[in-house]
Amino acid sequence: MNEKIMFSFGKNWQAFLKSLSRERIKNAMSSLEEFLGQIQNKTILDVGSGSGLFSYAMYLMGAKEITSFDIDPDSVKCTRLLQNSVKRKERWHVFQGSILDKEFLKKLKKYDIIYAWGVLHHTGNMWEAIKNTSKLVKKNGLLYLAIYNKTRTSQYWLKMKKLYNLLPKIGKSIMVLVYFFINYLIYPLFLLKNPFNELNKYQKNRGMNPLIDIKDWLGGYPYEVATPQEIIQFFSHLEGDFKLIKSKTFQDHSSNNLYLFKKMSE
Ligand SMILES: C[S@@+](CC[C@H](N)C(=O)[O-])C[C@H]1O[C@@H](n2cnc3c(N)ncnc32)[C@H](O)[C@@H]1O
Repeated sequence: MNEKIMFSFGKNWQAFLKSLSRERIKNAMSSLEEFLGQIQNKTILDVGSGSGLFSYAMYLMGAKEITSFDIDPDSVKCTRLLQNSVKRKERWHVFQGSILDKEFLKKLKKYDIIYAWGVLHHTGNMWEAIKNTSKLVKKNGLLYLAIYNKTRTSQYWLKMKKLYNLLPKIGKSIMVLVYFFINYLIYPLFLLKNPFNELNKYQKNRGMNPLIDIKDWLGGYPYEVATPQEIIQFFSHLEGDFKLIKSKTFQDHSSNNLYLFKKMSE
């Protein structure tokens, strides 16, 4: 599967940075700590850094050295904007590049931690991207991976994404509003939950912004998915004897399943 990138994640991330607040940064740090624990003195690679928020959070949490890259020049601009706000810039390197570009990957080292959150399923060749990422982990290093879950509706959402990308601006806005209305207002009410509490909870999780995430979800294409079994099976064949040490899986159509793998050998 080799598909062209049609959706500008970077433009969406530029809009997100306008709503960046201390609260969002704190939530991003908590989400990292929850899954990775302490990251002080670790070297980290942020694959597909997007807004740059998580690289920034890693810097604030005391990572020894952070390397961030993204294929989209606007995402790179976002990440550089945050990088420019830190004191010790030598601790944070930002590049434009693709996880599928073998020449670019030769410039990278091996890292204690690799963060590839919601990225590899948007590359157009998810399995190759996972393989390339796995090679950049040091022995005893960690790979934190977030990959869209495969559900009965995945094919339907693939069609919706194609449609969204073909629509003019007004059509895109209508799709975003309808999705927001159904998912964030009607659905919680149907479950007898307060929609405002649910929205609040959403923002606390990783510090994201629901409206930005809806555009990311509807527009994010190429789009691939995998069941936890498929991911675990794939890792069992990779070089490096990867051991799954933590995971969090979901049932709904738009969530990322989370995996933390430890590389046991070179
Ligand atoms: C959904 S965003 C996730 C951003 C960030 N990791 C986060 O957790 O907020 C996906 C990002 O992956 C980037 N991306 C897509 N294909 C890529 C590739 N081949 N190499 C590197 N980055 C890529 C996109 O440009 C986008 O910024």
